[in-house]
Amino acid sequence: MKKIAGISTSSSSNSINRKLLINALNQIDQNNTTLIDLNPNIPIYSIDIEERDGIPEEIQSLFTELQSYDAYLIAIPEHNGSITALFKNTLDWLSRINQNIFGKKDILLLSTSPGPNGGKYATAHVKNFIPFLGGNVVSDFNLGSFYDNFQNDFITDKLINTEYTEALKHFRTVSV
Ligand SMILES: Cc1cc2nc3c(=O)[nH]c(=O)nc-3n(C[C@H](O)[C@H](O)[C@H](O)COP(=O)(O)O)c2cc1C
Repeated sequence: MKKIAGISTSSSSNSINRKLLINALNQIDQNNTTLIDLNPNIPIYSIDIEERDGIPEEIQSLFTELQSYDAYLIAIPEHNGSITALFKNTLDWLSRINQNIFGKKDILLLSTSPGPNGGKYATAHVKNFIPFLGGNVVSDFNLGSFYDNFQNDFITDKLINTEYTEALKHFRTVSV
């Protein structure tokens, strides 16, 4: 049975992307999925800090843990048309161990926002750079207007829910 990691890249304790990610993990497989929250207490990457203190232990153990999964879901909050500083910082540190962070494994990208675009600019950005970090995006889904469309852990709009289910199904068929 394949092991799947769901990576939440928000630093909000009430993250809407985390809520969507948990829903997706439960639909994909309740027994072989693990939720990973990125650590917001790692210093901002600096070559000076790296040379002085080395790579933080939390980053080293995250890198090792990531290698133990067969595929990933990544939930991407959009900040100013891009990814969160937390996600960027974590990737910068991880890439100092090895640029092949995701081991050429498959990834499903999920993003949602309160506005109508559902994080589509952040998703597009991730699709551009993640191949350089060993990530293979096989499917993606953006949920706009989260508070209108996601209620009681369910996507209320029938058409949007069909699109969501198709994205999960594609990932499950190809990658799990
Ligand atoms: C600094 C900042 C920048 C933001 N920029 C965008 C943006 O470019 N596009 C967007 O749709 N939402 C933007 N938002 C709103 C976020 O989508 C919203 O805060 C969302 O809840 C973030 O996801 P999370 O709850 O999973 O952390 C921004 C929010 C913050 C705090």
